[in-house]
Amino acid sequence: MVFRLKQFISRKFDEEVRFFKGWQRDMKGVGAILPTSGIAARRMASVIDPQSGLPVLELGAGTGVITKAILQTGIRPEQLVSVEYSPAFHQSLVERFADVDFRLGDAFDLKTTLGERYGETFDCVISAVPMLSFSPERRIALLEELLSMMKPGRPVIQITYGALSPIPPKRESYTVSHYDFVVRNVPPAQLWVYRAARGA
Ligand SMILES: C[S@@+](CC[C@H](N)C(=O)[O-])C[C@H]1O[C@@H](n2cnc3c(N)ncnc32)[C@H](O)[C@@H]1O
Repeated sequence: MVFRLKQFISRKFDEEVRFFKGWQRDMKGVGAILPTSGIAARRMASVIDPQSGLPVLELGAGTGVITKAILQTGIRPEQLVSVEYSPAFHQSLVERFADVDFRLGDAFDLKTTLGERYGETFDCVISAVPMLSFSPERRIALLEELLSMMKPGRPVIQITYGALSPIPPKRESYTVSHYDFVVRNVPPAQLWVYRAARGA
């Protein structure tokens, strides 16, 4: 028991150090000072439908906190496609999670990053990409592209630290809903869900 607690604390500390180093290398690209909390990660993963049998797309995996929560929902590692921009984070993700399809590349250039997997239908998208570091036009274009890769009604969930949805509402092609406010995250985080609008 004590050994497992020590292992847990040591892994948590390693993750935080790795994340902090990533943040020092690229503050705008990483977009937060600490990894996502386990609670926020589990709330995000709760939108997955493990019965769908479809792959799940993760964007901005970082240290893998959300990756772990996604796998804990019961989906097989082979069902997860996960995009990460930082080579250092990508390398440690590949070492830590066997059989997940990690793609080193840009979530805003999915055709290149997903390669032959571009055009697959995903159950849902779980994104920690720091949206606010990109222009509103690029955020909207990415969301519309993601929604076109999912069945109607399935969600894209996004974590953010601002009070408002990082993707502006009131567009015809999608709906925006507030999913949760997670106080136990540094900083406290908002979770937003986007779905294709009916008839879009
Ligand atoms: C706020 S961090 C969250 C990471 C993860 N949830 C964690 O707790 O470790 C954002 C992550 O998105 C990645 N990222 C930033 N821009 C990206 C892009 N254009 N495409 C893919 N990943 C990106 C960063 O490298 C970073 O790992």
